[in-house]
Amino acid sequence: MNPISSAPAQPAGYPHFHYQNGALHAEGVPLQMLAERLGTPLYVYSRAALQAAWESYRVAVAGRDVLVCYGMKANSNLAVLKEFARLGAGFDIVSGGELHRVLAVGADPAKVVFSGVGKQAWEMRKALEADVKCFNVESEAELHLLSDVAVSLGKTARVSLRVNPDVDAGTHPYISTGLKENKFGIAIADAPRVYRAAAALPGLHVTGVDCHIGSQITDVAPYLDALDKLLDLIDGLRAAGIAIEHLDLGGGLGIRYTDETPLQPATLLGQVYERLDARGWGHLKLIMEPGRSLVGNAGVLLTTVQFLKHAEARNFAIVDAAMNDLIRPTLYDAWHGVLPVQPRGGATQEYDVVGPVCESGDWLARQRALAVERGDVLAIESTGAYGMVMAGNYNTRPRPAEVMVDGTEFHVIRQRETVQDLLRGETTLP
Ligand code: LLP
Repeated sequence: MNPISSAPAQPAGYPHFHYQNGALHAEGVPLQMLAERLGTPLYVYSRAALQAAWESYRVAVAGRDVLVCYGMKANSNLAVLKEFARLGAGFDIVSGGELHRVLAVGADPAKVVFSGVGKQAWEMRKALEADVKCFNVESEAELHLLSDVAVSLGKTARVSLRVNPDVDAGTHPYISTGLKENKFGIAIADAPRVYRAAAALPGLHVTGVDCHIGSQITDVAPYLDALDKLLDLIDGLRAAGIAIEHLDLGGGLGIRYTDETPLQPATLLGQVYERLDARGWGHLKLIMEPGRSLVGNAGVLLTTVQFLKHAEARNFAIVDAAMNDLIRPTLYDAWHGVLPVQPRGGATQEYDVVGPVCESGDWLARQRALAVERGDVLAIESTGAYGMVMAGNYNTRPRPAEVMVDGTEFHVIRQRETVQDLLRGETTLP
């Protein structure tokens, strides 16, 4: 999905990562200094960039009844969650673990929606005990389990059905979720019947309709297609005596990695409001679940060049970050910009930027024009979303530290993992 080309001269996302006196900075902090003080690989986030991304939603929802629930799977560091909670965000969670995190930062459960195709009974129980706003239910089997769990606790679960509207979000197949061949949601044709079933089950209270059609979407059209289908459904439900209080349009807004034109919240929501008003649903409460667009451009991954290798067919810059730290390139063929933290003048050569892991798929960027030497620090751009959260420990590699820059200050918000951490919990046979 992403073209192979040379890195843009300037950082791709928000202006919070910028060159100043020949050195790449996050806000007022030189990244070289962070690399030297904290080591690499290192995820660096900009607090001001998080705030700017939030502001783009705040402005877009002003004057309307919209709850923005941060799709926290994109970056669930407690400092990031706390910042969004402070700014007034709700949260879209997909597991008991994510619920634990939002409760740990004191988020308001009345602003938490629980999505996910395979919720377990213990997770439902925890969410009911916390009294989350809504469960986005993805199948009839889940509906029955939720009803049983709610009844056993003497509670009522507010539910939305996640409907699969069968629209093509025009994005990578692995992150497209609203097609009928995807595992997600309830087919729109079945939805009226499943809503009637939900309305009749004990322990459930139907409150909403939900969809999420995919991720890194840069076009409004698929959202409007989905919206039209969901409004038809809501009209039908009303006629059948089932009142819908909110419509959840999911997340999915794309960001700029290279030359994409990001879908601005105001652009999307402006057209959504227009359609809602035209169809007589202007008063309907909206929920959005953006993940990537709130954090993606707010982070970079710093990595140090270990070796340069000039092989017959390619030049390789072997760096200390790898697919275990950032899996997006190899998993989705995703393009992330690569910027030298302290650019050196001189001629560039074309490099593949690769990690030390024993896999040919262990690459972070390919065929990039770079002027680099051993020891240089590179910044892999737009890694604030689906970076650290998807990191693993393959090759017994401890995961990176995370740091949040705030003006001229910085705060370590997650310590670097140690090899000792990785061995914890393992034992040899007696
Ligand atoms: N709501 C639901 C139910 C979701 O499944 C997702 C993402 C979101 C909201 C947030 O979507 P966003 O605004 O971030 O597009 N790991 C992939 C992306 C997977 C997205 C999964 N669901 C990547 O690195 O591109």
